[in-house]
Amino acid sequence: MSQPPTLHVSSHPAILHKLAVLRDVATEPKKFREVVRELSWLLGYEALADVQVRPRTIRTPIEEMEAGELADRIGLVPILRAGLGMVDAMLELMPTAEVWHLGLFRDERTLQPVEYYNKLPDSATVDLCLILDPMLATGGSATAAIDVLKKWGAARIKLVNLIAAPEGVAAVAAAHPDVEIHCAALDRQLNEKGYIMPGLGDAGDRQFGTGKAG
Ligand code: PRP
Ligand code: URA
Repeated sequence: MSQPPTLHVSSHPAILHKLAVLRDVATEPKKFREVVRELSWLLGYEALADVQVRPRTIRTPIEEMEAGELADRIGLVPILRAGLGMVDAMLELMPTAEVWHLGLFRDERTLQPVEYYNKLPDSATVDLCLILDPMLATGGSATAAIDVLKKWGAARIKLVNLIAAPEGVAAVAAAHPDVEIHCAALDRQLNEKGYIMPGLGDAGDRQFGTGKAG
């Protein structure tokens, strides 16, 4: 399957190394959360490479110079629950970002997203929204989140995932060809239960120690 030009899969060695730890069934929740955070930082660094910067005059101990400061207002939109683990790292990168929580879970039977929480204000307050969710499986949750953000008035949206399935990438690209997708890995396919293969199991359960992974 050819991939859309909006898909960016990182090939950085640090990301490959951390992904192996994340995927490993023996990795406990504490370590899993640490690695989600570290991978989020690295992916965020790549996803934010094209944000707008404006000049700012500062004085170093030696002389005055024209430096830069972030001009774009960034909105982080973690998809509850699993996206929560990606927020802190992104806030370290972009301390002035706003965080808007969106609660979506995937109905286990239909695999359709169900919205249960939305903390967005009436109209868009940011220039660029980063949707944070470790997993892009069928793409139902991501597509629903993008729909919500576009109705809200978001001008630019990027999706940041740790692991994506080709099915999810195709669904997002078909519904929202303007949305860039940044991920650490593009895996093989979904299984009959809609889990990514080889994947890492259930990203929410593995972060929060609930349920059974896989
Ligand atoms: C997971 C994941 C995504 C969604 C991806 O969330 O974090 O939000 O599934 O699947 P999709 O691409 O097929 O929609 P889940 O519904 O398990 O909720 P949780 O984060 O509360 O565990
Ligand atoms: N959600 C997860 O947490 N993992 C998958 O493999 C698919 C959806």
